[in-house]
Amino acid sequence: MRYSEDIIEEVRAKTDIVELISGYVKLQRRGSSYFGLCPFHNEKSPSFSVSPGKQMYYCFGCGAGGNVFTFLMEYENYSFQEALKLLADRAGVKLPEVSYSREAREEADRKALLLEINKEAAKYYYCKLRSPAGEKAMEYLKGRGLRDETIRKFGLGYSDRYNSDLYRYLKSRKYSDEVLRETGLFNADEKKGMYDKFWNRVIYPIMDANSRVIGFGGRVMGDGKPKYLNSPETKIFDKSRNLYGLHAARGSRRKNLIICEGYMDVISMHQAGFTNAVASLGTALTSQQASLLKRYTQEVLVIYDSDEAGIKAALRAIPMLRGAGLSPRVVNLNPHKDPDEFIQAEGKEAFEERLEQAENGFLYEIRMLQRNYDMKDPQGKSDFFHEAAGKLLKFEDEIERNSYLEAVARTYHTEPESLRKLVNRLALGGTGQEARRQQEAPDRKKKEREDGVQKAQKLMLTWMTSYPEILKGLSRYITSRDFVTPFYRRVAEMVEEQYREGQVNPARIISRFEAGEEQNLAASLFHTKLSLESDMEKQTALKDVICNMKESSLNYRLSHLSPEDLAGLQNLMTEKKKLEEFKAAPLPGDLSPA
Ligand code: UTP
Ligand code: MN
Repeated sequence: MRYSEDIIEEVRAKTDIVELISGYVKLQRRGSSYFGLCPFHNEKSPSFSVSPGKQMYYCFGCGAGGNVFTFLMEYENYSFQEALKLLADRAGVKLPEVSYSREAREEADRKALLLEINKEAAKYYYCKLRSPAGEKAMEYLKGRGLRDETIRKFGLGYSDRYNSDLYRYLKSRKYSDEVLRETGLFNADEKKGMYDKFWNRVIYPIMDANSRVIGFGGRVMGDGKPKYLNSPETKIFDKSRNLYGLHAARGSRRKNLIICEGYMDVISMHQAGFTNAVASLGTALTSQQASLLKRYTQEVLVIYDSDEAGIKAALRAIPMLRGAGLSPRVVNLNPHKDPDEFIQAEGKEAFEERLEQAENGFLYEIRMLQRNYDMKDPQGKSDFFHEAAGKLLKFEDEIERNSYLEAVARTYHTEPESLRKLVNRLALGGTGQEARRQQEAPDRKKKEREDGVQKAQKLMLTWMTSYPEILKGLSRYITSRDFVTPFYRRVAEMVEEQYREGQVNPARIISRFEAGEEQNLAASLFHTKLSLESDMEKQTALKDVICNMKESSLNYRLSHLSPEDLAGLQNLMTEKKKLEEFKAAPLPGDLSPA
């Protein structure tokens, strides 16, 4: 399903990026750009810039960047199509009916239908809870301390005692058995036919980040087993990519997100004002969920049950969160079992205090490690410090490693110096790491060279889009053929094409990439920092960039030339000579950036 490039461009051109982003971020004018606090990472001083000229945004802190479409996709979690629809509406552009491929249309229709049925079911359960049949369920929820507004906010409901209640209702709405089976809300039995999966349970609808109902959890009222039943995964319900409560937590103004284990924990925390709580969906935290969290926050507070299973889960979650670039901290609820019980017993002020005291994830890992050693026994103590030193070694940043080293030394009563010696010895000795590092050296050189090539290409694209007037003169030395990375070459070709057509327009180039990552990358290409003041500086810098880029391009092409290609070789030699001449002479007049 694709809209034409023209219509996409029309929508983009009719949307002012400064105006759009101002609705989300407080922007201040600075020179020709606007700056504000980046909504995609936590920061105290503004490095998020919006350029009205280029109609793009870019964060110098975290590298997020793009045009109006990208912004909505990142901020609102929209798909490209959703962002396009919203902006088209806003700009008063009527989108044409698109011609989908048949499979794509059927798949999209199917998902829409499943969402619609889920919504119907959620409404049905919701009303049941408020009907005479739902009295006991309402009593149960009230008995657990939930207020009316909380029950409403989470759309809680009740499934009746009859086991085909919902099924009959949805059949009366003319849904086919085949699609109903796909919702996961029913069991099918040869003798009994189809019947409800949930009956006589309190119902917790599960919503995605955009508040669409994608599945359900149902709890027995009392001690029956199983305590919770959950919808199975369906076309619209992927348990590893969603978090319970995220639709409400994403708008929370608190400084971090809380990850916990249970539906009731989330609800209870929200009711007490901790509207930043979410839970995984009856499974261990996944790396996709960690990345999902990363979209909204920098720091995550882990609150798992205070039993052994909870500790194990936390020890699994911490490296996962760190891997996604988040800073995890662990909340201690002792002597209570879970956040719900803690808040019932001690109230929200005490809970807030516990959040503030949350322990750094690394120090938590070390503390849990220490439980395995007898610190009164000299051998046990020494084994523990060896193990801890091994973990400290994994910090690549020296300042970070040192500050953790000092914290560990302080907490476990040893001299920082002796712990440092241990770490250094491990680094050099026994583990053979030094030997490995030496082996890696040639690889590292190669990598540095590759990075240099990438950087030169990026810088060149920034020049080309910031000063299109140099493109004509530039073509004598650099063309898209000199871009050796396929992605950069594609972008360079687009810039050349736009130049031939009369207008270089980087924001338009970005919407030609559909995947979010490619859009970010494309946006970053046009935003490498130039920070040059005088014309003189500009000229020197441009000359450098041209020489660097040409040199690496020639080297690259030379090393990829087939030995038989004599004409190719000849060609390269000529270009090389031209480069030498270019180096020796002053920058030609038509290459003077304004
Ligand atoms: P808990 O038993 O800690 O749930 O399980 P809870 O939210 O504290 O429940 P209450 O307070 O007793 O009502 C944590 C989570 O594990 C999943 C659910 O997602 C639950 O919220 N779970 C638990 C199940 O899926 N099935 C079960 O039988 C039990
Ligand atoms: Mn509980």
